[in-house]
Amino acid sequence: MRISVIGCGYLGAVHAASMAELGHDVIGVDVDPGKIDALQSGRPPFFEPDLERVLRAGLASGRLAFSTDIAAVEGAAVHFVAVGTPQGPTGAADLQYVDAAVQSLVPHLHDGALVVGKSTVPVGTAARLAPQIDERGATLAWNPEFLREGFAVQDTVAPDRLVYGVPHGPAGAAAADLLDAVYASALAAGTPRLIVDYATAELVKVSANAFLATKISFINAMAEIAEVTGADVTKLADAIGLDARIGRRFLNAGLGFGGGCLPKDIRAFQARATELGLEHTLDFLADVDAVNLRRRARVVDLATELLGGSVAGRRIAVLGLAFKPNSDDVRDSPALEIARRLADAGALVSAYDPEAVVTSRRLAPDLDYASSTVSAIDGAELLLVLTEWQEFRDLDPVAVGSAMAGRAVIDGRNCLDRAAWQDAGFDYRGMGR
Ligand code: UDX
Repeated sequence: MRISVIGCGYLGAVHAASMAELGHDVIGVDVDPGKIDALQSGRPPFFEPDLERVLRAGLASGRLAFSTDIAAVEGAAVHFVAVGTPQGPTGAADLQYVDAAVQSLVPHLHDGALVVGKSTVPVGTAARLAPQIDERGATLAWNPEFLREGFAVQDTVAPDRLVYGVPHGPAGAAAADLLDAVYASALAAGTPRLIVDYATAELVKVSANAFLATKISFINAMAEIAEVTGADVTKLADAIGLDARIGRRFLNAGLGFGGGCLPKDIRAFQARATELGLEHTLDFLADVDAVNLRRRARVVDLATELLGGSVAGRRIAVLGLAFKPNSDDVRDSPALEIARRLADAGALVSAYDPEAVVTSRRLAPDLDYASSTVSAIDGAELLLVLTEWQEFRDLDPVAVGSAMAGRAVIDGRNCLDRAAWQDAGFDYRGMGR
């Protein structure tokens, strides 16, 4: 099938390459020539395991190409809109890129074409955009993406569910048939598919992310309780997680959530509820946000306490800057924010991340970046592990201790073996344990 993907950021680049991997003929379009050049030459503009492989395979097969010219989408049966919806100044989603993408696409739509929104949008957006697409004899569907960074290709090629938001009637049925053809391999493998209206499809995405954020903040609130009662939140999570109704996944206490999705999505959802006249319905998400942000402050306080009341002039090694492992993404990253706050308070921070130094440097050019774990920890009085990369989990505490000037560690992701670090003489502080 001939497919276009408009917007080649995280979502769009992965979607375009993954659709080619599924055997479709794909043209990816973006207004950023730098991004298009990189993708066209097989270089992903961000770190995502597996993306380079599918990108190169798609380009080599001749089924995948990229362009800055929107006219290149002509002739495609299905056009995916995958542009960003960043947080605007009020917390509401900024829809200018979605609106611009649809506006630029409309003149190139032929009768019977399908436009598929993948971007995360406030409920009501599809209904607002549909008339200009309908006018061309084309149809709009909304098909939210649930991809996780670090597993983005896998989540796109083999998703855990497919949700189609389509209009009522024959146009909606035809849209669902086209989407079934796009996702034929996933459907053949038994992926559940739900056909719903626009509003439900839009809400599935934001409510899933709101639920995940709530789950994380719930366990982090328990971590706050554990910190004053001497309980161990990791054991608590194991115990409550064995209740199948609760489940153990997404119950890891630590620095909380960051990244390009959960923080902005819960804020945009609250803003949308208020616009809908439901100003109290999502009040709890303000608490979810607040619990989440308090975890960052907690680490700064703990570091200050461990260094005797002030971090000024003290040497602190920070391992991990990305918002989660297997990613170079530092958008709203708790790790990067903590490193910056400590540096702002006068600490001599040496920060290292296996993939996220380049991206961190763009946001925090004044931080001192190390080129390896070994150089970050050299002579440090305090160690902070803030992203649970495997190479940090595997650190030998004895070797780390002998390279450092002090023996204190804050395990911001509860990812280290506490007993081993204590045996190596470390004052070990986890999150809620
Ligand atoms: C998320 C959703 O999982 C995905 O379905 C959606 O499409 C986009 O947003 P992503 O942003 O890639 O994906 O990251 P995710 O794996 O969900 O992690 C989000 C944040 O929560 C990370 O900072 C992570 O460290 C944190 N987290 C996750 C916890 O603090 N504890 C947990 O138990 C799980």
